[in-house]
Amino acid sequence: MSDLFDLTGKYALVTGGAQGLGRMIAEGLLRAGATVAITSRKADICEAAATEMAALGKCIALPCDLSSPEAAVDLAAQVRAAFGGKLNVIVNNAGKTFGGPVDSYPDKAWPGVMMVNVQAPFTLIRELLPELEATATPDDPARVINIGSVAGKVTERLSAYSYSASKAAIHMLSRDLAGDLAHRNINVNAVMPGFFPTKMTAHMRDNDDVDPVVLDHIPMRRMGRADEIAGVIVFLASRAGSYVTGAEIPVDGGLVGCG
Ligand SMILES: NC(=O)c1ccc[n+]([C@@H]2O[C@H](COP(=O)([O-])OP(=O)(O)OC[C@H]3O[C@@H](n4cnc5c(N)ncnc54)[C@H](OP(=O)(O)O)[C@@H]3O)[C@@H](O)[C@H]2O)c1
Repeated sequence: MSDLFDLTGKYALVTGGAQGLGRMIAEGLLRAGATVAITSRKADICEAAATEMAALGKCIALPCDLSSPEAAVDLAAQVRAAFGGKLNVIVNNAGKTFGGPVDSYPDKAWPGVMMVNVQAPFTLIRELLPELEATATPDDPARVINIGSVAGKVTERLSAYSYSASKAAIHMLSRDLAGDLAHRNINVNAVMPGFFPTKMTAHMRDNDDVDPVVLDHIPMRRMGRADEIAGVIVFLASRAGSYVTGAEIPVDGGLVGCG
């Protein structure tokens, strides 16, 4: 039992791992024993986060802006070089949103969101298939974990049209890939966070005071905590989660399940 969630000797990539939800996830994977590469658009922020997290384990900074498929290809090459061709876990966490009233919702709100939230994750997975397959076995598959959102599952009235559509897309992409990659010993799952206190939800709170309208429709009546997202990711990345693929897992205080 003690090694069920142990990730010693595993190599993981967490996009957007320098801050927010990605940082919570990267810290969880490091605590479980993995070597973790994180990305951020700004090199100094990426380096500083990796240095801070070095107290928990080996953490490598790979700065990149995932606004183009070429950038995702380049990141894959950096991961290949940093980990010597080994990779056990990809967490596609980097994400972008755009909110606005439907009548004036701009066309420019679509391509960037779809790129970062859907296409870049796909390109990264495609490019890193050889590395994932190299480490994977039927008993211990490689793991791809795509961070979706409850906004891609239920209507949230956030007026973030490209965002919710992109999250529904990454859920479906995860299931599609799970079916195609199961026989290659690669598990693919989507995790759907509800509301967590990050920059993305800053407009819904005043520090710890969360907008009562937001809390009203969360059955557990609070936002999620770092351990609560990290725990699910460590589960999916570890031996404990080796028989789970093609799943869409809500981590949301009951928002999806009790709706
Ligand atoms: N917070 C929530 O309640 C919640 C709920 C559901 C789903 N999610 C999902 O969780 C993930 C993380 O979001 P968050 O809440 O932590 O929000 P956040 O604080 O705004 O973080 C967004 C992350 O995405 C990265 N990112 C954004 N644009 C990027 C780009 N062009 N290239 C590379 N990286 C980029 C950011 O990296 P840098 O800024 O460091 O470059 C940052 O790490 C997203 O996929 C989001 O949709 C969050």
